[in-house]
Amino acid sequence: MEKNEIKQHWENVFATKQETEVSWFQQYPKTSVAFLELFNLPLDANIIDVGGGDSHFIDALLEKGYHNIYLLDISANAIERAKKRLGEKAKHVTFIVSDITDFKPQVKFDFWHDRAAFHFLTDEEKIYKYVSIAEEAIHKNGYLILGTFSDEGPKKCSGLEIKQYTETSMSARFEIAFERIKCIREDHTTPFNTTQNFLFCSFQKK
Ligand SMILES: C[S@@+](CC[C@H](N)C(=O)[O-])C[C@H]1O[C@@H](n2cnc3c(N)ncnc32)[C@H](O)[C@@H]1O
Repeated sequence: MEKNEIKQHWENVFATKQETEVSWFQQYPKTSVAFLELFNLPLDANIIDVGGGDSHFIDALLEKGYHNIYLLDISANAIERAKKRLGEKAKHVTFIVSDITDFKPQVKFDFWHDRAAFHFLTDEEKIYKYVSIAEEAIHKNGYLILGTFSDEGPKKCSGLEIKQYTETSMSARFEIAFERIKCIREDHTTPFNTTQNFLFCSFQKK
């Protein structure tokens, strides 16, 4: 798929579907928050949610008192929805509409979170770009948390092909610049009562 077709796909999703009409919806992102809590980050940590869409992870960060938060998504519609939901609290969030593979970070991050965005990169060149951008953008000793469909999960997400990962294949992508901390598998129950097996891994920048 061409870049503009991908963007159009996501703009359309966020223009036509309610949050509970998409398979990835979570009222509370408990696994992502559990990873965050492992690392005791100071409240002024720079935290980015990559491909965050209108996920409630940002709300959970704000509730905990984090205030240097970045939300990046390819879809301007998704970002608008997140802004609207957050209201006044949106002032603590820097919103970035960008394809992750074109992202030119202006700051370095202490915590990089991505649930179900990285797995849409299916060609080598884009995967390589993502990994290089993350390597460059994360502080030494900073953390990277990635959630993707596992090899027991679906082969598509939002109707698009995805790349499934195992602990080994994900580590192989990141272990040049990062130290793996831990990986878990998790069954996500969609709003349609189906199950999707996810792999979440955490890494620390060397
Ligand atoms: C399956 S949704 C997951 C959303 C959110 N992370 C969550 O857990 O609810 C995938 C998200 O990644 C975004 N996305 C897809 N490809 C992207 C890309 N190349 N660059 C940036 N964002 C992208 C989509 O717009 C969408 O918000």
